[in-house]
Amino acid sequence: MGLHIWAIGAGYVGLVSGACMARLGHRVHVMDVNVDRIAMLQAGGCPLHEEGLPELLAEQRAAGRLSFHDHLPDSLADVDAVVLGVGTPQHPITGRADLTYLDAAFRDLLPRLGPDTVVITKSTVPVGTAERLAAWMARARPDLEGHTASNPEFLREGTAVADFLRPDRVVGGARTARGREVLQTLYAPMEAQGVRVFLTDTKAAELSKYASNAFLAAKIAFANDVAALAESLGADAGPALEAMGMDSRIGPQFLRPGPGYGGSCFPKDTAAMAAVGQDSGTVQYIVEAAIRGNHKAQERVAGRVADLLGPDVKGKKIAVLGLAFKPGTDDARDAPVLTIAPRWIAAGATVVGCDPAAAQTVAHLVPGLHIAPTAWDAVEGADAVVLMTEWPDYARLAPSALRARMAPHAVAADLRRAWDKNSLLAAGFDRVYRLGDGTI
Ligand code: UDX
Ligand code: UDX
Repeated sequence: MGLHIWAIGAGYVGLVSGACMARLGHRVHVMDVNVDRIAMLQAGGCPLHEEGLPELLAEQRAAGRLSFHDHLPDSLADVDAVVLGVGTPQHPITGRADLTYLDAAFRDLLPRLGPDTVVITKSTVPVGTAERLAAWMARARPDLEGHTASNPEFLREGTAVADFLRPDRVVGGARTARGREVLQTLYAPMEAQGVRVFLTDTKAAELSKYASNAFLAAKIAFANDVAALAESLGADAGPALEAMGMDSRIGPQFLRPGPGYGGSCFPKDTAAMAAVGQDSGTVQYIVEAAIRGNHKAQERVAGRVADLLGPDVKGKKIAVLGLAFKPGTDDARDAPVLTIAPRWIAAGATVVGCDPAAAQTVAHLVPGLHIAPTAWDAVEGADAVVLMTEWPDYARLAPSALRARMAPHAVAADLRRAWDKNSLLAAGFDRVYRLGDGTI
């Protein structure tokens, strides 16, 4: 029999998790304090740009397993699990995870919990959070047994639904037998299909999330360093990284160089892990280097594009194709363009961006950035075209067709290595920059 679940937070994490848990056969109520968001969901809408999510929401609502609410019921006594998926952003001053929302949600649900309800944290939280919440519970509700658990998510935006339902592994951490039982029941349908459900203690589960994200971020930062080195040595980093990835101990994923990693997780989780390392006197050297390297990578590519344009970018028009931090999402959190475009604007360039999903969000975040409806409009009369985000529609554009619309001495920069090098060279650009390729 399925579990009875309340999922708190209808952001990326909460909404995708809630819908997927319904898909596994559980009865899920999704709650968010944002009444507009809940009204939209109740009306059949979907507030996120996420592959397969609108269909999944509709399917599970029709099946009667999924509903949306803007407040909690008086009692959660008959609820098996409350899943916390509220935001845990980076605190603007301390750099640590900001737990205001998590604590507010916990405070709200505490008086309503039943003896068998397990509070599961899905958001990324500092190591020790499940124990802290259990201690809080023990003070506020001495009648309860401290059923808190950790179940970190490893969802990538754009493929979050598939990542949830077909993961490499599920990680769960429990403090009590009841917590363990609920985690096991929650994922039993996936385990039956061969997914590894790895249960451990709460601190190890919490740490695994930070360590996984930091490692992936470091892998990208390493690839970006190799790309920079290749450029200065006159080598091509692409085949070098490809050869590296063929070693199964290294693996090919997250070795693609680019304008720096962005998004809601890598920048925030690396910062939090570095801060915790500093606090505890155990400096996280690799993570600190990855953070520095990522900032440097953004600075470096901004400079490379400016150099392409000649001694001065003042008065030049730069067309930026792709603004989201990666394709398939409308999310602009920590997108590389947010630090790169302002450098060009400050130097006097006119920067025109386009993006199939994130254009308006980025326009609000980058003062002076112009938005064009399509890539064709963006490159019209431009002196430089920059492929910032490898949306398939942009990767498919023929460099010669772009070149034809641009200014006489136009240059091209492919920051994602998504365009064909020979077509770029043949298109008649005055100068071409392909990230990581020092042979051009
Ligand atoms: C965030 C983090 O970015 C991610 O790293 C972490 O693992 C989980 O939280 P996301 O789901 O994208 O991911 O956060 P956000 O889009 O901010 O959504 C949080 C939702 O929770 C919002 O809709 C907000 O209104 C809601 N919320 C917040 C509540 O329902 N109750 C609260 O008390 C606070
Ligand atoms: C990430 C993690 O992958 C996921 O497990 C975690 O739970 C949340 O954070 P997400 O931020 O959605 O997911 O995107 P991801 O696909 O990991 O990309 C993050 C950033 O790294 C993007 O800016 C992307 O362009 C960049 N990236 C990724 C590279 O520059 N090179 C790569 O090889 C891979």
